[in-house]
Amino acid sequence: MRRVVGKRVQEFSDAEFEQLRSQYDDVVLDVGTGDGKHPYKVARQNPSRLVVALDADKSRMEKISAKAAAKPAKGGLPNLLYLWATAERLPPLSGVGELHVLMPWGSLLRGVLGSSPEMLRGMAAVCRPGASFLVALNLHAWRPPVPEVGEHPEPTPDSADEWLAPRYAEAGWKLADCRYLEPEEVAGLETSWTRRLHSSRDRFDVLALTGTISP
Ligand SMILES: C[S@@+](CC[C@H](N)C(=O)[O-])C[C@H]1O[C@@H](n2cnc3c(N)ncnc32)[C@H](O)[C@@H]1O
Repeated sequence: MRRVVGKRVQEFSDAEFEQLRSQYDDVVLDVGTGDGKHPYKVARQNPSRLVVALDADKSRMEKISAKAAAKPAKGGLPNLLYLWATAERLPPLSGVGELHVLMPWGSLLRGVLGSSPEMLRGMAAVCRPGASFLVALNLHAWRPPVPEVGEHPEPTPDSADEWLAPRYAEAGWKLADCRYLEPEEVAGLETSWTRRLHSSRDRFDVLALTGTISP
């Protein structure tokens, strides 16, 4: 695994990961973490859980990964790991109990829309049975539609149930709930994309898909 600590990329062995994991009750995985603020908040609020955050682009994780690796007095969090990796080729993690994919774009967006069953299966494979997932879709990807959304119209709670749930089911993901998030809930996620959403009360900007994974 490639661990990001500031501008440095360090090899992190499977054994080192297992050793770290053994110190915690559970693992939370944030795929496509961007600047990594969301997992930082999750790790700070859940010291008994190991939080692993990864992104295909390591540059935006530099600042927060340096902070997470610092001494606790300087904001360091021993239960937080930033990795340089893609959703297509996940590092050999296992036993993930909670999976987050927030405001995906690019191939990650295509994947969570079910266009790439291998990606959904790959994410399911690192989870333990019954793991929970949260996928938060930035609906501005449909306003106007970016190429990654393909032929899919902007999803709604009903339409996601209709066309996404069966695709998810094929990959071991059970979609239990799909709802629009209130602006306060989006803010609570600490995703950096809130600021860019230009949220307005008369339009819902984020659709949250939640459920469980049984690989
Ligand atoms: C819009 S940003 C959202 C970042 C963060 N989740 C947030 O909400 O602030 C989407 C992120 O997904 C990452 N991404 C896109 N495709 C990916 C893939 N296949 N594997 C891993 N990361 C990917 C991008 O590099 C980018 O950082």
